[in-house]
Amino acid sequence: MITLNVNIDHVATIRNARGGIEPEPVHAALQAELAGAQGIVCHLREDRRHIKDRDVILLKQLVQTKLDLEMANTDEIVNIALAIRPNLVTIVPEKRMELTTEGGLNIEAKVYDYKLLCNKMHDKGIEVSFFIEPAFNQIQASLEAGADMVELHTGLYANSLNFIEKNFELERIRQAVIAANKLGLKVAAGHGLNYINTKDIICIKGINEVSIGHSIIARSIYVGIDQAVREMIELIKCTNHNNNNN
Ligand code: PXP
Repeated sequence: MITLNVNIDHVATIRNARGGIEPEPVHAALQAELAGAQGIVCHLREDRRHIKDRDVILLKQLVQTKLDLEMANTDEIVNIALAIRPNLVTIVPEKRMELTTEGGLNIEAKVYDYKLLCNKMHDKGIEVSFFIEPAFNQIQASLEAGADMVELHTGLYANSLNFIEKNFELERIRQAVIAANKLGLKVAAGHGLNYINTKDIICIKGINEVSIGHSIIARSIYVGIDQAVREMIELIKCTNHNNNNN
């Protein structure tokens, strides 16, 4: 069964809009867990535009499932991760002006640097995932660097404008999952997934986890976090069930 990790960055975005203390991202994380989320994700960006250092510290103390810290490979953030010790770090590319994470990492271009990073994290008992495009060369390079997992970027799939593009992107993801499975890497998928387009991703055998933020937090404005998370879990369960029965 594919597990759901809920990204709570956007709760912090709303809090920071007024520079105050509400809504509290830690409350959101705990509610998501109570609703059945199997992991909590947050991204400590260099510019601290949403999640702040104190959020990660509190989440580490209170999250009971699994804490996945998204982060760039910079000295400052690496040192914070090594001190706080989340269960998993997902390494992402980061650009100052981007609205959200754009594109995957080029692990192939810097295998040696990423190997050093993996060694540091592993020494502290932290697993490492690389956020990459669904491309064989990046999967192979992630293995060489010592990754435990790869997170396949589903952005191009989610933003595809027509049926042909969508099927093309789905097939790329499908082939990437097969390749990663063969190499023994765990596989997550994420970015732009919502209550409609997640179904086709769930149907791909070999994906272990999905990481979803914006659509769940957006829905929670209308129905609350508890129901928004439960609805996504139900969708994952039903799709899995129907898929296994076909
Ligand atoms: N996975 C990664 C690596 C991300 O950077 C993000 C965005 O923060 C997500 C998943 C979640 O994307 P979304 O908010 O579009 O669901």
